[in-house]
Amino acid sequence: MYRVSVDYLKPGMVLGKAIISDNGTVLLNKGVKLTQFYIDRLKKLGYDTVFIEDPDTSDIVVEDDIKEQTRRKAIQHIRALFSIPLSELKDVKKATIGEIKKSIEKGSIKEKLANSKVLKNIGAISYQIVDEVLDNKMLSGLVSFKRFSDFTYKHCVDVTVLSIALADKFLYDKNKLIELAKGCLLHDIGRVLIDKSLYEEPRKLSKEEFEKIKTHPTLGYITLKDIADIGIIAAHIVYQHHEQQNGEGYPRGLKGDNTMPLPRKEIKKGYIMPLAEIVYAANVYDALVSPRVYRSAYTPDQAFFIMKRMAGTHINREVLKMMFEVVPAYPLGTTVIISSGKFKNYIGVVSKINRDNLSRPVIRVIFNDRKKRIEPFEIDLSANPHISISGIII
Ligand SMILES: [Fe+2]
Repeated sequence: MYRVSVDYLKPGMVLGKAIISDNGTVLLNKGVKLTQFYIDRLKKLGYDTVFIEDPDTSDIVVEDDIKEQTRRKAIQHIRALFSIPLSELKDVKKATIGEIKKSIEKGSIKEKLANSKVLKNIGAISYQIVDEVLDNKMLSGLVSFKRFSDFTYKHCVDVTVLSIALADKFLYDKNKLIELAKGCLLHDIGRVLIDKSLYEEPRKLSKEEFEKIKTHPTLGYITLKDIADIGIIAAHIVYQHHEQQNGEGYPRGLKGDNTMPLPRKEIKKGYIMPLAEIVYAANVYDALVSPRVYRSAYTPDQAFFIMKRMAGTHINREVLKMMFEVVPAYPLGTTVIISSGKFKNYIGVVSKINRDNLSRPVIRVIFNDRKKRIEPFEIDLSANPHISISGIII
């Protein structure tokens, strides 16, 4: 199987992986033969890429980092959480942040949350996700098929998976990983209390509107901080997930020192909690490789390129280094274009990841430079250092 843009789809092609809808149900199952109706529907729903089965790549099997059922359950739980009517205010659109804060503190929002079954579900699913991620040796590097409108729920799950894999490399124990998972799943819960249109409309935000968005970590934190099932670590992850190394993040402008975010690291006053530094990096990565209202998705290697420029100032340098060791720049089953040498502009599919050199996989070339199908052949990039490639979505 390999990953293609929905614009490339033709009737008769076979879906290689199921498409999960916003509410966590299967929209189209794997093995389904696509019809024009399905293709139009996928486009209309805003999906950007899918996996297709193909005889030349049938031995390339792309597995999810967690079980499909676990992912679906997690999406459903987060969706349910975001659907609890948290705001007591009649008109969130016009409310000031002060009013929203007051409403959280004296209203029944906390009670509603603390008593809801949904929160217990978040704890249980956190445990399960940690278990499944720990079973993997390496991440697939693939994130779920998002469309901008259901970005939030799937994004929370993908950030969780990546953060756990990173924190595991920094030797956090299982209990801490579960705290981390809870914080990740809930990291954007504060958005529930802010006018939704600020996130979903493709327009430039005013300074005032952006200031409003910047309060979501604080709103999330004050909502969660005294709830026993959540715990203080998860609440602080929510609070600190937009803080940057240079102190220019929000909401408090905490700083980082670019050292390894190890479990026993002492947290100095005014500095970011190490786990939140991990979540910040995972959050940036997932946002870049997902389509947004105002742009299409970046390929993982493009995302890495952008993130390298953010290292030290925005992203903790050590966390980013670790990410390069955990996430392949060219995930299995994705397409790449050869950018140098004899086969310049030929297009291939990543057929094998070299575990000790994640950025130099084996490529199965299936299109020539005029995008015509050819008899497939393979190039092992780890043995051909002179050949360069870049990720491409065909
Ligand atoms: Fe956020």
